[in-house]
Amino acid sequence: MPSPSKTVLVTGGAGYIGSHAAKMLAKSGYEPVVYDNLTRGHEWAVRWGPLVVGDIGDADLLAHTIKHHNIGAILHFAALAYVGESVTNPELYFENNVVKSLTLLKTAWQAGVKHIVFSSTCATYGSPEILPITERERQRPINPYGETKLCVERALHWYDMAHGTTSVALRYFNAAGGDLDGEIGEAHSPETHLIPLVFDAAQGGKPIAIFGTDYDTPDGTCIRDYIHVTDLADAHVKALHYLREDGPSTALNLGTGQGYSVKEILASVEAVTGRPVPHRIAERRPGDPPSLVADPSLANETLRWKPECSDIETIVRSGWHWHRTRNAAGHVDPTGA
Ligand code: UFG
Repeated sequence: MPSPSKTVLVTGGAGYIGSHAAKMLAKSGYEPVVYDNLTRGHEWAVRWGPLVVGDIGDADLLAHTIKHHNIGAILHFAALAYVGESVTNPELYFENNVVKSLTLLKTAWQAGVKHIVFSSTCATYGSPEILPITERERQRPINPYGETKLCVERALHWYDMAHGTTSVALRYFNAAGGDLDGEIGEAHSPETHLIPLVFDAAQGGKPIAIFGTDYDTPDGTCIRDYIHVTDLADAHVKALHYLREDGPSTALNLGTGQGYSVKEILASVEAVTGRPVPHRIAERRPGDPPSLVADPSLANETLRWKPECSDIETIVRSGWHWHRTRNAAGHVDPTGA
């Protein structure tokens, strides 16, 4: 029997996490084929294989791409991922993240693709009271973004039951940091994430607004579990190995198990950059849970994965390097990303 194709379709592979996963795939002996509509991704981030510019809602192009490239498995990242935008435009999120993902699943199944690694999120848990969060926690999203990711997790479950398509849903906590070789990194437009906004403030941009100092946490600011994007990429490749070796479908938390408050992040950026971070205290941001920290032990056991570069200093140092150099390198979109 011929061995299964090592060519992997990476939907959303021009985005932040998808591009790091494409690089890791190539380093691990796979051939990534990036499939991205470039509405939020960047052509410059596609460096480790061909780019097909297309939408996951386009069944014909998807089917052609899967056949033409002899795709053996899919890493599915393509999605909209702003929590705030999902609250004001749920229709956009259900259309993009659910309806189009269903087109992808159906097309992949009809084309004979057996394995899918899905980019899910801790936002599927909502605001759990027991920390750290295990996969046994009930999933009760508190925003449409988390709900759309949960819908796709459920669809994957039923595809496995009916058609034997196996999948790993990876529930990321807070993705952060930049490629350790400085080749790619975070470039959202608009940027809403804490660490890049803190870098902007350190560079003399707008002071960072700390959203709430009256949470029931040790210093009153929200706590998150920051996980380096390269560790996330590594987990995707390990999840792919696992599925190719007939591992059953599962869902796994990807975090470190260690939380940092907003104030601790500011202190860490000041220490790494040697610059003060101008800041102001602002109102709580609606929908922010006080603390989200992963229990990553199931991913540790199932994939033999553990974070290698997610200590806060490496996250901040690699993110800062990228943030400072990317403009000089011309990695700037007309949109300002
Ligand atoms: N924060 C600020 N000021 C800012 C931006 C953020 O104080 O200007 C705080 C937030 O309140 C939060 C923390 O910094 O406590 C981290 O905020 P991010 O926006 O960087 O990340 P989130 O935790 O809101 O979001 C992340 C992912 C989402 C995912 C969510 C799950 O980016 O995709 O975790 O909770 F859905």
